[in-house]
Amino acid sequence: MVGNLSPIDTAKFVAAKRAVDMVEDRMRVGLGTGSTAAWMVRALGERVREEGLSIKGVPTSTRTAELAAKVGIPVISLDEARWLDLTIDGADEFDADLNLIKGGGGALLQEKIVATASDTMVVITDPSKRVEHLGAFPLPVEVVPFGWQTTKALIEEAIDAMDVLNATGTLRMNREAPFVTDEGNHIIDLHLASIGDPRKLALVLNQIPGVVENGLFIDICDRVIIGHQDGRVEIIDINDGTTAEERIEFADDDNIFADL
Ligand code: A5P
Repeated sequence: MVGNLSPIDTAKFVAAKRAVDMVEDRMRVGLGTGSTAAWMVRALGERVREEGLSIKGVPTSTRTAELAAKVGIPVISLDEARWLDLTIDGADEFDADLNLIKGGGGALLQEKIVATASDTMVVITDPSKRVEHLGAFPLPVEVVPFGWQTTKALIEEAIDAMDVLNATGTLRMNREAPFVTDEGNHIIDLHLASIGDPRKLALVLNQIPGVVENGLFIDICDRVIIGHQDGRVEIIDINDGTTAEERIEFADDDNIFADL
């Protein structure tokens, strides 16, 4: 373990640290959202401050933008960057083809746009996110607020005819009110249990009026870095068909923890 970090945070931290080693001077880097991505933003900020690494970051949410500014990463919009060298983000699930479920943190729309606009997308994760079949984690679907109940009914009707074990959706809430994304939309979480054909489901969902985007990331991720609590990382590269194992060295007093 690192310092006072829990085993799970240690795993996330070492995955993040390894991914940040892939960032080179002058890169435009997509900055993901979530607890694992937050470790990456901190580690990248440390390289900017201590090595003078010159990069531009494109955040995938308001909260990532705030953290990036706090740790010293120069931030630009996707419209300014147009195209990115690398995006590093977390995931809720990944399978053997490196297809993903994302959006547990509610940022799937910006995350998918940014990842798709990147030469390389790297997912950082702890071992718990690896699955044989996607779908145990509720699949987030971003919908416009107008007529969301009709959209939800249309989604349930569509997925009932597909290869899933269950077909119910729930509106994501933020205390008493519907959760609102950075784009002003709502999220329907689909409790599917197992998804037989993720590629087809992703296409079907995006055909429904009112659906903005879904949390299935198909053929977008190039590499997954799985961190372990003992400092090991596995690096799976879907393009090369390789899996490598390395060990991450870190100092317990790493000043990355200064803002915790
Ligand atoms: C944010 O919307 C998500 O896609 C996150 O990347 C995903 O939920 C993983 O988050 P954690 O790293 O917090 O598990």
